[in-house]
Amino acid sequence: MAVPLLDARHISKSFAGLRALDRVSFDLWPGEVHALVGENGAGKSTLIKIITGAERADAGALLVDGVAVPHIDPHTTRELGIAAIYQQPALFPDLTVAENIALSLERGGSWRRIDRAGRRRRASELLQRIGVTLDPDRRVGDLTMPEQQGVEIAKAIGADARIVIMDEPTASLSEREVTRLFAVIARLRQAGVGIIYISHRLEEIASIADRITVLRDGHTVATHNRGDVTRAELIRLMVGRELDAVFPKRDVPPGATLLEVTDLSNARAGVRQVSLSVRRGEILGIAGLVGSGRTQLAETIFGLTPADQGAITIDGRPVRIQSPADAIRLGIGYVPEDRRQHGVVLDMSVAVNASLASLPSVSSRGLIDRAAETTRATEYVESLRIKTPSVDGEVGALSGGNQQKVALARWLATKPSILILDEPTQGVDVGSKAEIHRLMQQLVERGMGIIMISSELPEILGMSDRIAVMVAGTIVTIFPRASANADNVMAAALGN
Ligand SMILES: Nc1ncnc2c1ncn2[C@@H]1O[C@H](COP(=O)(O)OP(=O)(O)OP(=O)(O)O)[C@@H](O)[C@H]1O
Ligand SMILES: [Mg+2]
Repeated sequence: MAVPLLDARHISKSFAGLRALDRVSFDLWPGEVHALVGENGAGKSTLIKIITGAERADAGALLVDGVAVPHIDPHTTRELGIAAIYQQPALFPDLTVAENIALSLERGGSWRRIDRAGRRRRASELLQRIGVTLDPDRRVGDLTMPEQQGVEIAKAIGADARIVIMDEPTASLSEREVTRLFAVIARLRQAGVGIIYISHRLEEIASIADRITVLRDGHTVATHNRGDVTRAELIRLMVGRELDAVFPKRDVPPGATLLEVTDLSNARAGVRQVSLSVRRGEILGIAGLVGSGRTQLAETIFGLTPADQGAITIDGRPVRIQSPADAIRLGIGYVPEDRRQHGVVLDMSVAVNASLASLPSVSSRGLIDRAAETTRATEYVESLRIKTPSVDGEVGALSGGNQQKVALARWLATKPSILILDEPTQGVDVGSKAEIHRLMQQLVERGMGIIMISSELPEILGMSDRIAVMVAGTIVTIFPRASANADNVMAAALGN
């Protein structure tokens, strides 16, 4: 009789009284892609942590090949053939591809003779098996994000993983790179590997998943075969209500030019002669492949890595931006892509994080007004639907998407006149995504200018008034909204 590769039965898990999972069941068959979807904080990552042994379940059973595994820990997962690939690859940047793969697969002490040729051969063979062309001698730190993911998958295959977990693997990939990852997934599936796939991009789920399980507030609400559920039904299952799927874009008559950047360069960051402008009431979208320099441009304008050439004017006046402090003083806000590094302080509360960038407005005579801080944080928790036990909860304990929302709240609270958003809805669920888009629309209607970097074409096309496309550190084209479409923006991003 056939048994599933993995069978999680009635799993429960609480954190300090908060029930993250309540009798959740989930199974996975050989050669299947089983997607796990749900709002931010629904419990997806917690379930994965229990399957990989990073967390212990309070109750429930895990069966692999029909056999109960009572004590799962990171060592036994390897023996059981379970491997997880996270959004941020966990590789050694200074080692080569071959060395990274070898380190994860070889056992034995340092006395072993290092077989360099063998390592290289093995790496090539594994990469070839998943259809990734990559020189095993390249330094991992020099690889793009999708290439690093390829190395992670090769590691998993080398370890004979039969259960591969991917937690938001495409969050920082562009459309073309997603296509490549899907080709790799197709190969794994053919080889009988079972894949647990977590993503907030529902279009992706519709094209890759065989089955879809929806979690809501720690409960399994449904499991469907791909063809049996529409996008609208999925959203309803996830958020428990109907949602408007269209972008809330309304035309705002553009006002005066807020920010103008002329021939801005930053040799070290690879930004070359960028010219752009943003007017009041305008959203300037920045499209481009991963590695095209979009984040570097944002960091240059914001003064994190100051420009070495070019000019910036704000409200028509020439300015110098040498540091983030300069930028903030000039009315620029920046929500970075990597929230763990720059976006939030993990061991501080939601309320403190939300007011960090705007202390003057919640303090009087140098003292922080805790009541004002709490009131404002509560407003953002409600409007952005941040799932936290209270505004005093530590940000580090929130789910990934909820941390992203706190990072956004922090900068919205500064009421900047120019706001730079780097992948503002990455890792954010559909409901909150619509909420963030609605907020952006409100802000520009009040006269703010927004620069939005995004790898999601529908978001770029749906929200931008103009779309600048970057290739290799510079802007190659700027499309007005009316003449932009998926084809010409993609073609420009690919350098055609
Ligand atoms: N270590 C922890 N301490 C306290 N609470 C936690 C901890 N880890 C998770 N939680 C809580 O458990 C709930 C589920 O979180 P989880 O990370 O599983 O959500 P998720 O579905 O992965 O969300 P996202 O889509 O935002 O990544 C959340 O309310 C979260 O705040
Ligand atoms: Mg998560």
